[in-house]
Amino acid sequence: MLKLAVISLTCTTLVILFLFRMSNNPILCKPPVLVERGILADGNSTEDDSIMSQHLQVDAVLHYATSRVTPQQTIDEIKISFDILKSLTPCNFLVFGLGHDSFMWSSINPRGTTLFLEEDPKWGRAILKDLKFLRANKVNFRTKLYEAEKLIEHYHKEPDCWARKSFLKGNHKCKLALDMLSDEVYDKEWDVIMIDGPKGYFDQAPGRMSAIYSAAVMARNRKRPGFTHVILHDVDRDVEKVYAQLFLCRKNLVNGVGRLWYFQIPPPSDNNTSFC
Ligand SMILES: C[S@@+](CC[C@H](N)C(=O)[O-])C[C@H]1O[C@@H](n2cnc3c(N)ncnc32)[C@H](O)[C@@H]1O
Repeated sequence: MLKLAVISLTCTTLVILFLFRMSNNPILCKPPVLVERGILADGNSTEDDSIMSQHLQVDAVLHYATSRVTPQQTIDEIKISFDILKSLTPCNFLVFGLGHDSFMWSSINPRGTTLFLEEDPKWGRAILKDLKFLRANKVNFRTKLYEAEKLIEHYHKEPDCWARKSFLKGNHKCKLALDMLSDEVYDKEWDVIMIDGPKGYFDQAPGRMSAIYSAAVMARNRKRPGFTHVILHDVDRDVEKVYAQLFLCRKNLVNGVGRLWYFQIPPPSDNNTSFC
């Protein structure tokens, strides 16, 4: 009787030990990972991260392979940003303007941060309807395209606009400064900034003046080593051209194709008191 009890106790112990080992074996039984697209909420191992990235990219392939709507930038224009992102990812990527290309940009930087700034809520909702995992902030621009010329005079006169001060958060006096962004935008150092929004093709549109000015300020305030890469679209228009030359500077223009210019902006040297 006692022999039977010992045998049965030993068997039970062995079974429990076996089950316990199974539950701790990372290959046989992985702990559940709570994932939100692009953000690992728990158990964020490199392996999980890599699976997430692959899912995002495969989903992007399916999305574009089955979509009849294509992005507005040409293949040659897209290739410039594509190469920059491929070499820098994972990186901090800030994009002015949501569009049919947003999923593509986000999927090229799957382990980095890609944040979109959108002015038009209707357009924003239309784009995000099927792409809810994209991260976007609404931005209320303080400018109108027809003010573009006057705003250059304002920049020259208003000390809070000058490169020497160069700040955005709380800069209510400089009309070109985007003073209403989220703390995340102010606190992060953006490695790549793409300006393909807001609208700039009719008088009452916000125009891209403050997006260009603010990108230049962000680049100027960079503390991490390396350039800030700024990509500007629609440079066939006067406002984009003039503002780019004033704040992003000809000397930083490293490539251009079609209607797109690519600037590499170095951190400022101590004695550099102007944008260019
Ligand atoms: C020039 S679009 C950017 C397009 C994007 N790069 C693409 O390839 O799809 C930039 C801005 O145009 C505005 N927009 C509003 N309605 C639009 C529409 N029907 N098509 C494209 N852009 C629109 C949005 O506010 C958006 O931020």
